[in-house]
This record gives sequence, C-alpha cells and structure tokens, in this order.
Amino acid sequence: MQIAERLTKIPPYLFMELRKKIAKAKADGVDVISLAIGDPVEPTPDSIIAELARTARDPENHRYPTDEEKGMFAFREEVARWYRIRYGVTLNPATEVLGLIGSKEGCHHFVMARVNPGDVVLMTDPGYPAYRASILMGGGIPYNVPIRPENGYLPVFEEIPADVLKKATGMFLNYPNNPTGACATREFFDRLVAFAKANNIAICYDNPYSEVVFAGQERLSFLSTRGAKDVGVELNSLSKPYNMTGWRIGMALGNPELIAAISKVKENTDSGIFNAIQYAGIHALRHETGNIDHMLAIYARRRERVLKTLAKIGIAFNPPKGTFYLWVPAPKGMSSIDFTNRLFEKAAVVVAAGTAYGQYGEGFIRISLTVPDARLEEAMVRIEKAFA
Ligand SMILES: Cc1ncc(COP(=O)(O)O)c(C=O)c1O
Repeated sequence: MQIAERLTKIPPYLFMELRKKIAKAKADGVDVISLAIGDPVEPTPDSIIAELARTARDPENHRYPTDEEKGMFAFREEVARWYRIRYGVTLNPATEVLGLIGSKEGCHHFVMARVNPGDVVLMTDPGYPAYRASILMGGGIPYNVPIRPENGYLPVFEEIPADVLKKATGMFLNYPNNPTGACATREFFDRLVAFAKANNIAICYDNPYSEVVFAGQERLSFLSTRGAKDVGVELNSLSKPYNMTGWRIGMALGNPELIAAISKVKENTDSGIFNAIQYAGIHALRHETGNIDHMLAIYARRRERVLKTLAKIGIAFNPPKGTFYLWVPAPKGMSSIDFTNRLFEKAAVVVAAGTAYGQYGEGFIRISLTVPDARLEEAMVRIEKAFA
C-alpha cells in the first residue's frame, strides 16, 4: 500500500528502540519502572466522574454535541470564567474560546488554520515532538530555535536568521515547558508579542502545564499580555490539572480570526466533544480546583525525593519551577543515550533521553513524576545503589 509522503517525513519515534528493550526485559522477568511518560496515575476526582455518569444518562446528550465543533456555549463560558479567575484574562466565550479534544489537537489544527505549504514554522529545541509532526503534516517547514539553560530555556529571537523570519508564519511555544520545566516571565511575553508583530508570525502558545508550578512560581497565561490576542492563540487542557488525560478535553483561546479558522478546520474534521464530557469539564473547572493543589503537593514531594537521590549520585542542580518533569543533566562525559542506557541496564529504570526532544536535548534526560510513590521510591533506591 502506498502511504502519503507527508507521513514518511515524520521522523521515527525515538523511544522505539527503548520499547523493544523494555518488552524484552519484561519477558525475561525484569521488574521495569518507567519514569518516561507524563501521564498522571492518580484517578480523575470522583465528582467529575459522577457528573459524566449523570449527564451520560440523558438521551439528549447521545446526539451530536451541542454547538458541534465550537464546544457547547456553557463550556466556553466556564472556560472564560476560569481564565478570568486563574489568570486575570477576559475572553469573549462566543468568539475567543473554542473547545478542543485536548491541546494536542489544537497544535495540529493551528497549522491547518494558519500555515501554507512551504511556510516556515518556528519551534523550540528541545521541544514537544508533536509540534514537528503537526508542522510536517500541514506542509510547513519546521525551524528549530535552540533554548539553552543559560537563557532560562527561553528562545533568543535575535539568533533567528532574517531569511528564516521572512518565510515564517507561525511559532510554537510552551512554558511551563515540556521537557525542561522552565517557566516564562511577563517580560518575555512582552518581547514575544513585539517579535510576533514585527515579523507577522502567529503564536501558538501551548499552555497545558499552566497550573503545574512550584515554590511560589506565578501561574501565567500568555493572553494576560497586552497585544497577545492580536498575535495568536493559547491552548490549554483539562488533562493535567484535573487528571483527565484520557478524557480528551481542552480549549483554544485568543485571536478571534484564528479561533474562527481553527473552528472551520474542526467543522470539517470532527463533530466536537461528547456533551457529557463537556458537562464533566464544566464541573471540573467550577468545583475541582482543589485537585490542583492536592496534585501539586504530591509532585512537590516527589520532586524533592528525586533531587535527593540525584544529589547523592553527584548530580546537584537547581531545577526550574514548572511541570511534573525534571530535566536532569547527565553525569560528566556521558551522553543522554549513555545515561538512559545505564539507568535501564543497572537499575531497570526507564527515562526519556533528552535527544528525543531535539539536538539541544543532548546531555540531559527527562524524569517524569507521574508514577506512584512506592514505585518512585523503589526506582530511587535502585538508582542510588547502581551509582554508589
Ligand atoms: C507540551 C504539551 N502539549 C500538549 C500536550 C497534550 O496534551 P492534551 O492531553 O491536552 O492533548 C502535552 C502532553 O503531554 C504536552 O506535553
């Protein structure tokens, strides 16, 4: 069967080799612990599940979703309310809010809505791999903007060549950042708006970790910046704050023209989110904010636990204050892959190699804190023994 060229351009999944090794180790009876994936293990709060069950029984909700591709108005209103309370951002639910099947869907639809074949789209390196895939599927040309520890993992706009900027029509950014954990600042947002305006670049600010911040770090929306709505959209999601990754519910917010364009893509792609899931989403946003604090306390404790082990094996560093990932430097002289392999072979612990997120991820590994406490403890004890 001939497969479309656009798919052949998407680079092979870097975890594939690792997956094979894990499968083999498990078949040999090894107790493998994975710290590679960012997916909360604690369940969705009960009251959200109850709201889904209640509304799923109503036959009205068994039909195509209300307002189809846009998301039901009550959901969009609730999102606007949440943004006002959490980030001080005012949004018109009719024109500036759109329901999504997770923020990942929004990344793809942003490209479909904004990018013409041959346009350059900027993304950070290291960065979330789905951006590259979305850009390539949409016929765009990805351009990697390095982000480095010495700049707080924020891009340096002046480094981007003028000929690249001429062809660029979009940029993906994500802070609190997967994989580095870095957070943006208000001052950076001002510079980002000015950069986007000066170069006519639409910003896709992917913000699903906006609530996952530690130690006094401020929760931030790009849309709280003056002029942000003129230059782009923000994506967000119920996945991480409410332990709802499997439910597939999120939102796009901001520039009304881009929101309308993304809505047109959705209109011709899917028929929106199951009403009962949207009702459960409304309930989460309105009543389950306590879950966020509960989860943050768990992640903070796990962060400390991992940092203690890392310090014991000679890796002491001051991690940025966002996301449930730790972006850990490999020991001196070891590459990302060497360190990943050593952890697997000596401790049966799986982590993500930094290079899975781009060439500037070399020298790092990513550890995810979304693993039960007892498994994390076991992993840390094994690492301490293996590297003693
Ligand atoms: C940076 C980033 N964007 C988007 C997503 C996808 O989230 P959602 O579940 O909202 O589609 C993830 C998930 O890990 C992510 O890390």
